[in-house]
Amino acid sequence: MKILAFETSCDETAVAVVEAEGEPDAMTFRVLGNALFSQASLHQEYGGVFPSLAKREHAKNLMPLLQAALTEAQLWEEVPHPLPEEERRHLEKLLRREPDLARALVALVARIAPPSVDALAVTTGPGLEPALWVGVNAGRALAHVWRLPFIPTNHLEGHLISALTKPLDDRSYSLSEVAFPVLGLIISGGHTEMVYMEDWHAYRRIGGTRDDALGEAYDKVARMLDLPYPGGPRISRMANTARKEGLEAPFDLPRPMLHSDDHDFSFSGLKTAVLYTLKEYKKQHPELTQEDKRLFALEFENAVFDVIAMKVSRALKLYDAKTLVVAGGVSANLTLRKMLTLLVEKHYPDVAVAFSEPELATDNAVMIAMAAALRADGALTPEDLDSVRAAGALKLTS
Ligand code: KG4
Ligand code: ZN
Repeated sequence: MKILAFETSCDETAVAVVEAEGEPDAMTFRVLGNALFSQASLHQEYGGVFPSLAKREHAKNLMPLLQAALTEAQLWEEVPHPLPEEERRHLEKLLRREPDLARALVALVARIAPPSVDALAVTTGPGLEPALWVGVNAGRALAHVWRLPFIPTNHLEGHLISALTKPLDDRSYSLSEVAFPVLGLIISGGHTEMVYMEDWHAYRRIGGTRDDALGEAYDKVARMLDLPYPGGPRISRMANTARKEGLEAPFDLPRPMLHSDDHDFSFSGLKTAVLYTLKEYKKQHPELTQEDKRLFALEFENAVFDVIAMKVSRALKLYDAKTLVVAGGVSANLTLRKMLTLLVEKHYPDVAVAFSEPELATDNAVMIAMAAALRADGALTPEDLDSVRAAGALKLTS
């Protein structure tokens, strides 16, 4: 089954074509085409994602990326394909809020033969609403004109499922030998969730952040230190340099909710503590040097790691999980991976640990195609898809 997938929930616009084969327990995925544009540098001056800018950029880039992904997948076949007037009007109606995208989409459809794929999957949430609508509306329009089943797909499920795959080669992944129950930790710019998975698609949210997402906290602390967005990679590089240099911060930051009797997190207090500590620190050091910034990065990251280690450990113990899977943009952090791997090896030697492959850790459309393929599981008639639709639209709730 070949799936064309769109992802526009945040600040990455992405299109992928993925071929899925096999039963859920041993499904393999081959990436046939993968095109992605990150808007991160455009959002830099705002220190975070600016929704209306994200929406505009998605609308501008989605069709060029679709062309790139289809071309790479050898599914771009230029054949004039005139659209009946009625069809064109229907597409324009679906995309009435994005007239430029409507024009680009109609032009694209008129230029090529309908690509030979089996379904179109689109991230329908959670995410930034104006950004999501671009992918959803374009997806609905294309699914209509190309007569493809439309699979609404949950962004968090995309992160989790893709993190559970293992690479076979540089273009293929497989979902084999996942031992349930699985404890999932999703840490990204928009989400911090702890999820218990008893089986495929059987999720229970057991905890999460009560305020800021972890990636958001990284990004905000980076901003305080005048480091560009996205702040996660910068902070983690600076903290690593500080570790190598054997630096120790002359101040302490709090470890919020470290001992709370639940699986929740709170990062907003930590962020505020950085702000106040920085204010005090600047009284002695008005011009922050690189080394000063490294000290803040180090202590901030150590505080984060302490909390994550404690909460993961607590959940592994309580839920008797056989696999720990860590997904989302922050899971690209290599020091965090090392720390969690060591923690599990030492205290839970029977638990397998899975992380997103680096190229799948931050937002992308390959993960959306993977989650959609697993949901569809060969069932691509309109009737069968009703249940897929209902499930895909679900948020991960407790
Ligand atoms: O999953 P993602 O691409 O987008 C959302 O769905 O939110 O995650 C992006 C987040 C950003 O906040 C970024 O700062 C963070 O992931 N991030 C990192 C690292 N790489 C990306 N945080 C810490 N360490 C990293 N190496
Ligand atoms: Zn994400």
